[in-house]
Amino acid sequence: MGVSERDPHSGHQTTGHEWNGIKELNTPVPWPVWFFLIATGLFAVVYWVLMPAWPLGRTYTQGLLGTDQRAIVTRQVTRANEDRASWTSRIAALDVKQIRADPTLMKAVRDDGHRLFGDNCAGCHGSDAGGNKGFPNLIDGDWLWGGSPDQIAETIAVGINSPAATNSRASQMLAFGRDGILDNDAVIAVTDYVRSLTDPGVTRGAGAKSVAAGRAVFAANCVACHGPDARGNQSLGAPDLADRTWLYGGDAQSVYTSIHDGRRGEMPAWGERLSAVDRKLLLVWLLDKGSAP
Ligand code: HEC
Ligand code: HEC
Repeated sequence: MGVSERDPHSGHQTTGHEWNGIKELNTPVPWPVWFFLIATGLFAVVYWVLMPAWPLGRTYTQGLLGTDQRAIVTRQVTRANEDRASWTSRIAALDVKQIRADPTLMKAVRDDGHRLFGDNCAGCHGSDAGGNKGFPNLIDGDWLWGGSPDQIAETIAVGINSPAATNSRASQMLAFGRDGILDNDAVIAVTDYVRSLTDPGVTRGAGAKSVAAGRAVFAANCVACHGPDARGNQSLGAPDLADRTWLYGGDAQSVYTSIHDGRRGEMPAWGERLSAVDRKLLLVWLLDKGSAP
């Protein structure tokens, strides 16, 4: 193996290895590589000394600075709760009307209520509380279970058809067709009658006979819950069928499906999952968004 041979072009020594006439240069490691190796090595040593670093069985090297992430987070949470307590205690103490009359509290309600709604309710009711098919709009002033602050607070706390809550509200639209309570002609007739309440076109021409038959079916089977004039009953969660707001849709197919298969909307109970203050925040946020008095 040749030793101390110099490459005439670069001036570097070769390693003495040769492949097909090409000789490998013995180029030194560039200085930036040394620089960063040494700098990062030094940094690591300094960091080990200052910060918590090495595990020692049951404990660990604490570091000279005494940094403790857990203590930092605990401090931050405590401080955030203290900041929040300055106004949450007032939310708890005041009634809905007083809260809504207080601009500083309402600012907190709008910020925190929006966040709470986004985290817990938007998945079903939509991010703007505008609802989806089967999930009611909460800001249109139209309520299945009543729109007074107490009624809304109760709905949020106990849920609807919620298996988790023993005192849940129970919403039971029977499956008149599927369960054989009504034959198919009767379901079609009562579908026509229900639709005629908001769409007079259904009664015209050949529809008139079906609507008349449907009125009788309605009187015999539906008034107990939806009321004699179909205006609904908030103590049963039975919707007003004579307004133009539909939970499951007002087209012939949707109304037929509601009556044939029944409906049983489920809303979780929040009494155990959200604190009383958070539920009140949501209530006031909803009233504010819906601009209910
Ligand atoms: C899993 C879906 C779901 C989630 C999440 C949900 N809801 Fe509901 N909510 C429903 C359904 C479905 C109904 C309608 C039930 C029925 O048919 O009577 C409803 C009804 C309501 C009602 C009654 C509306 C009326 O017209 O009387 C209120 C108020 C309400 N929800 C508030 C909330 C709030 C506040 C949250 C968040 C803390 C929330 N909901 C989260 C599904 C949900
Ligand atoms: C035991 C009470 C009860 C009876 C009886 C009843 N309903 Fe209902 N109905 C309800 C409830 C409660 C709802 C709401 C279901 C939900 O929110 O999931 C409802 C929902 C509906 C809907 C859907 C409304 C919408 O906005 O989408 C229609 C349509 C309807 N009922 C028609 C009828 C007709 C027609 C009859 C008679 C053949 C009838 N109901 C009998 C309780 C009842």
